[in-house]
Amino acid sequence: MDSKSLILSIESSCDDSSIAVTRINDCKILFHQKISQDIEHSNYGGVVPELASRLHSVCLPKILKNLKDENINFNGIAAIAVTNEPGLSVSLIEGVMMAKALHLSLQSPLIGINHLKGHIYSLFLEKDSIFPIAILLLSGGHSLILEAYSYDDIKIIARTLDDSFGESFDKVAKMLNLGYPGGPIVESRAKFGKGDIVFPIPLLHSKDLAFSFSGLKNAVRMFIDDKNIDDNLINDICFAFQKSAITHITKKTKFYFEHYLKDSTIRHFGIVGGASANISLRESISLLCEEYNKTLLFAPLEFCSDNAAMIGRCGVDAYILKRFIDAKDLDISPKSRF
Ligand code: KG4
Ligand code: ZN
Repeated sequence: MDSKSLILSIESSCDDSSIAVTRINDCKILFHQKISQDIEHSNYGGVVPELASRLHSVCLPKILKNLKDENINFNGIAAIAVTNEPGLSVSLIEGVMMAKALHLSLQSPLIGINHLKGHIYSLFLEKDSIFPIAILLLSGGHSLILEAYSYDDIKIIARTLDDSFGESFDKVAKMLNLGYPGGPIVESRAKFGKGDIVFPIPLLHSKDLAFSFSGLKNAVRMFIDDKNIDDNLINDICFAFQKSAITHITKKTKFYFEHYLKDSTIRHFGIVGGASANISLRESISLLCEEYNKTLLFAPLEFCSDNAAMIGRCGVDAYILKRFIDAKDLDISPKSRF
């Protein structure tokens, strides 16, 4: 094997600064660290781009210093993989600038990684990739059903018409003054809730294969209105909101299974993205996979939200395919280009 055997990867597309080192021959993660900015953004109930950018410029060098203190051979870095789309421009640029600086000092080639593709590869950490595979990707910025046939061939089957799944949890948490990110907080409050409140299930009577969360979010807003909200009512609202959101996702995913996946050659179904950590969602999709005889894959819980290990794993396949890019051509894009 080439003496250069490692991928150094960088993720900074939103509010997590992360660096990883992955061994190419067996995809083993040799180093992974991430600094989340949840506490800093919590005061604002959502990500403040300028603050995120400033924190990346402090946190990424901090992690790089920690990496230098580890027993990692920098001369063994075969390529530098960095998230360059989609995401917040001011956040993406911080990771890309660090990647370009490392490229100059180490003379290792650069690879630009699509963040959503990175989430798909969170299913293949420390193992071989599986294609074809169908995927439900639920994050703060996206709600998608995808079919991935190879590294290059990924088709979007369904998307959201408005807000994303994770974003709707963040907004409901903000309405209830619960902090940020809303997903894990709403999920934990929902465990103590009862089923007395009923919110509508989005697109219930529509035959379209698409998601929507803005109507549900507004139903929660109108319910809260100027009510006096105590802890028990917060739990009940979280329970009812989460139930509607997950029922909507499950019904649309079932529609996809019934009309597209059932008779297709795709045997595997994966759930990825920060919101794929939601246990009720996992249980619901797991039942669906049993019903349709598909093998369900999840990422380990710690790698559901944004991290550089998934970017590094994606970087391994990109490296094998020699998907290098000149520093002058490596730009950022707030939108996904696949
Ligand atoms: O993938 P991710 O870390 O960042 C983006 O690429 O957007 O996803 C973050 C999103 C946030 O909106 C967060 O509230 C949501 O994932 N999330 C959850 C849960 N954990 C994180 N949503 C629902 N339930 C959860 N347990
Ligand atoms: Zn993400």
